[in-house]
Amino acid sequence: MADADIAVLIEPNGRVHTVEMIDESVKIKGIGVLNPYQRLNDVDIGHEIQIGSKTFTRLPPRLPELVKGMKRRAQTIGSKDAGVLIARLGIGPGDIVLEAGLGSAGQSMHLARVMGASGHLITVEPRQEHSDVGLENLATLARALPEFPMHSHIDGRVEDSVSDIEKISTEVDAILLDLPEHSTAIQAVAHLLKTGARLSCYCPVSSQLEQAWIACEEEGLEIEWAGEIIEREWGKASKGGVRPVNGPFGHTAFLLIAQKK
Ligand SMILES: C[S@@+](CC[C@H](N)C(=O)[O-])C[C@H]1O[C@@H](n2cnc3c(N)ncnc32)[C@H](O)[C@@H]1O
Repeated sequence: MADADIAVLIEPNGRVHTVEMIDESVKIKGIGVLNPYQRLNDVDIGHEIQIGSKTFTRLPPRLPELVKGMKRRAQTIGSKDAGVLIARLGIGPGDIVLEAGLGSAGQSMHLARVMGASGHLITVEPRQEHSDVGLENLATLARALPEFPMHSHIDGRVEDSVSDIEKISTEVDAILLDLPEHSTAIQAVAHLLKTGARLSCYCPVSSQLEQAWIACEEEGLEIEWAGEIIEREWGKASKGGVRPVNGPFGHTAFLLIAQKK
């Protein structure tokens, strides 16, 4: 018996489904029609269940599975970059963190996991079709995690939301920006950083990095680090041993970290 609000089911091919444990019959994409509570509540963690023609294994709702099973609309920040941003910005319990744009909440999910119940996450997003997805992903995460930060969401462009942000908090411990255009956002929110706090920009192309760099310096922030995190996966070789897998290095984005000194 594994009472929980959210069940995670994984297929043998690695596809993950997050299922809300409601006691009514619903159609779930990739699984079929079922009453989640009645079919899944007695399935122990690590045990298999056959639903229709598919076999699923039930896993606990941990962040990597919840991220794999999340809904996606806007391009998301994955664990490779999200983890580095959290570490380099020094984010943890009790922090007040401003993030724009929310998008599908890829970065927000990683933030919420480390901020604990004492943190406060403020997200900003102008496009409702994106925030619908991002907020749904955060709601699922909130039901799965033992602790979740306070969350305030603002509909709008971050540049136009400064007074709403200041009504929530006049100072923040970190700012994470993942926007098509960072300069105007940096100009609008840099003053919210506490002394010693950091701001990051996620920049898929180098021209965005350069513009963000200049904007940060113009706002009196010190560039602490800029660069790219390159991930090289290893696998088992067919004739024994382990080695880097064949395939190209992927590019996600250049990261910029700036500090208010
Ligand atoms: C690439 S997505 C963010 C993805 C998000 N970081 C994630 O990991 O899922 C960029 C988002 O910024 C939003 N956006 C664009 N301009 C904005 C602005 N001026 N202020 C706030 N959000 C903005 C877009 O609507 C979009 O949803």
